[in-house]
Amino acid sequence: MKEAMKAAEIRSTFLKFFEAKGHTIVASSPVIPGDDPTLLFTNAGMNQFKDVFLGFDVRPYKRATTSQKCIRAGGKHNDLENVGYTARHHTFFEMLGNFSFGDYFKKDAISYAWELLTEVYKLPKDKLWVTVYAEDDEAYEIWNKQIGVPAERIVRIGDNKGARYASDNFWMMGDTGPCGPCTEIFYDHGPEIEGGPPGSPNEDGDRYIEIWNNVFMQFNRDEAGVMHKLPKPSVDTGMGLERLAAVLQHVHSNYEIDTFVNLLAAAKKAVDAAGAGDCDKDSPSLKVIADHIRACTFTVVDGVIPSNAGRGYVLRRITRRAIRHGYKLGARKPFFYTLVAALAAEMGDAYPELRQGEKRATEVLKQEEEGFFRTIANGMEILLDAIRAVEIRPAEDVLMQDVPQGGGTLSGDVAFKLHDTYGFPVDLTADVCRERGVRVDVARFDELLEAQRTRARAAGKFKMAAGLEYSGAATTFHGYEHLVREGAKVTAVYVDGSPVQSARSGDDAVIVLDHTPFYAESGGQAGDSGELRNASSRVIVEDTI
Ligand code: ALA
Repeated sequence: MKEAMKAAEIRSTFLKFFEAKGHTIVASSPVIPGDDPTLLFTNAGMNQFKDVFLGFDVRPYKRATTSQKCIRAGGKHNDLENVGYTARHHTFFEMLGNFSFGDYFKKDAISYAWELLTEVYKLPKDKLWVTVYAEDDEAYEIWNKQIGVPAERIVRIGDNKGARYASDNFWMMGDTGPCGPCTEIFYDHGPEIEGGPPGSPNEDGDRYIEIWNNVFMQFNRDEAGVMHKLPKPSVDTGMGLERLAAVLQHVHSNYEIDTFVNLLAAAKKAVDAAGAGDCDKDSPSLKVIADHIRACTFTVVDGVIPSNAGRGYVLRRITRRAIRHGYKLGARKPFFYTLVAALAAEMGDAYPELRQGEKRATEVLKQEEEGFFRTIANGMEILLDAIRAVEIRPAEDVLMQDVPQGGGTLSGDVAFKLHDTYGFPVDLTADVCRERGVRVDVARFDELLEAQRTRARAAGKFKMAAGLEYSGAATTFHGYEHLVREGAKVTAVYVDGSPVQSARSGDDAVIVLDHTPFYAESGGQAGDSGELRNASSRVIVEDTI
């Protein structure tokens, strides 16, 4: 048998195929969407073309193709909880796409997809299933009459999620933005794998895997949910590179493809060296680590640092989840940051920014990891004790979808203490609990968090009211993009609660800046520490309020 295509070749084959069909190859945009407050992370190849679909932006091409870095770990499309438990979910993945901006539409999109899959990648036709939006007779007819897919392998999916257009076959970027009906192509991994065809009650199994989504962009959804017609019908497609690679490399889990085989080996080596000795090479925890190093590294390389809010907090959650899984395998000192180098070696050819940002990403993750390792041991002890008190089964690993129902519940008070004192994000606590069939009382956790926020707000007001009178310009925060801010100016200085012209060495001072990378205390979370420097002096920042 011919050797299976490696991920890199699958990627380049896709791009070249569409280039030959008149598409311009466009580089991936960063995982942080530029100028789009509606999105936390880039979640699809079409994000960078949003304004082109809407008609606000015109490019020198009407057809484009990309391999896009995507993160689905927050916001509308969020896969974080599934990672490690299924064969096909990732926080970071690569989406191969072709786009038509008012050029070709359904007929060509469908025939390109079929030609590429069956003639270039040579997938057996009888293993492919398709879904269409229930009302989309046109797409149905193209599949059935023109392409020749038999009716029994074409499934119509309607508004099955409780509202108009709420359907697996009506794709929306987010709550607002370009959207439209779609047709999805599935690959049948065979009867030895659990799961039913799309639209069946058992569709969530791993047997029938969606590999490619072709969206027929026709509307722009506004904040009120009203659909406005786009200037021109367009096409937006997305195929998960990892899923396609699994099919072409004859493995059924994405974690068995070449990219992951190498990353998993590096993860095992790093965890072993950090204290595990010789951990189980098949442990799902290694999969979590191999997945998360991709999301964390790309996020840092594209400009985010761990923090207590927004994107930085998602990055912190993913990093801590990875570390916790290493800890579970026996790592007792930082290991995760060492995997940045392995990732750069694996994917640096396709994404040169990995090599450029390797050193910095290594440092940022190392710092975050050192911080968390200082507290994880105590926190884990408390968590495991609390779980032991409520669990109904021994604490062995529960894998894949084998999550038992009906176990005990961990109190929201314990979850809150772990969050507040030990920096265990509640989803990390939930992750540990889930492995043991234990639920978390999230409602109580939320209640405590809200109460703390209210207290913190009151405390902040009090502090300012009692000590300081500041009425200058507000400080501009840059901490999501940068660790360092050059050229910042001091706008006010206080010592002992009174404004002063300057502070002396040894003073405890409050300093207000015009621009800052320091995250300020909020919601009961500690503010950043660090330092301020200029040519003549150095100020240690103990806290930021
Ligand atoms: N934008 C479409 C998706 O993400 C292709 O599925």
